[in-house]
Amino acid sequence: MDFKEKIRVIPDFPQPGIRFKDITTLLMDGKAYQAAINELVEKLKGTEIDLVVGPEARGFVVGAPLAYALGVGFVPVRKSGKLPAETIEVKYSLEYGKDALAMHKDAIVPGQKVLIADDLLATGGTISATLDLVKQLGGEPVGASFFIELSYLNGRQKLEGLDIISLVQYE
Ligand code: PRP
Repeated sequence: MDFKEKIRVIPDFPQPGIRFKDITTLLMDGKAYQAAINELVEKLKGTEIDLVVGPEARGFVVGAPLAYALGVGFVPVRKSGKLPAETIEVKYSLEYGKDALAMHKDAIVPGQKVLIADDLLATGGTISATLDLVKQLGGEPVGASFFIELSYLNGRQKLEGLDIISLVQYE
C-alpha cells in the first residue's frame, strides 16, 4: 500500500516553514491503519521483543496496536507530571520546543528486549530521550519503528547503532 498517499501534509503548521505530516488521515482509514501496523510487524519478523515503549501522544497510536499485534506489553512514555507512580525523567529538545519525558520506574524488568515505537522520526530528540529512559531502567533496546521518517533531519545519526524501521520517508 502507498502509505504516503494516506498522509496529509499541512504547510506552515504549527509554525511558518514546517510542513506538518498529519497521520490522522491514515488513521481514519481502517484498512490503511491495519496495513501500516501489519507492515511494521512484518518488518520486525525475526526480532525478539518483550515490550513496546511509545512516547505520548502519537507514539501510543503506533505503539499500542503494535504491542497488541506482537502479543507483548506496552509501556507509555509521558510528558512530565502525567504518570501517577514513581517515575524517572529526562529532559529533551523537540523540533520546535523543549520538554521532559517520564516513565514509571517499575515499567521495565532489567534485561527485557524493548522496541520503541512512534509515528514520526524527525530530529530524533524524542527517541533519544526515550532510549535514555529505557537504558536507565535496564531495558535492552532492539530497535525503533515509525510510520514516517523525515530523512533530511538526520534523526538516524542521533540514534546510531539502533535498528530503525520506517514505512514512509521524506527526503
Ligand atoms: C512529535 C512526534 C514525535 C516527535 C518527533 O511529537 O509524534 O514523537 O515529535 O520529533 P523529534 O524526532 O524531533 O523528537 P510531539 O512531541 O509533537 O508530541 P505529540 O505526539 O503529543 O503531538
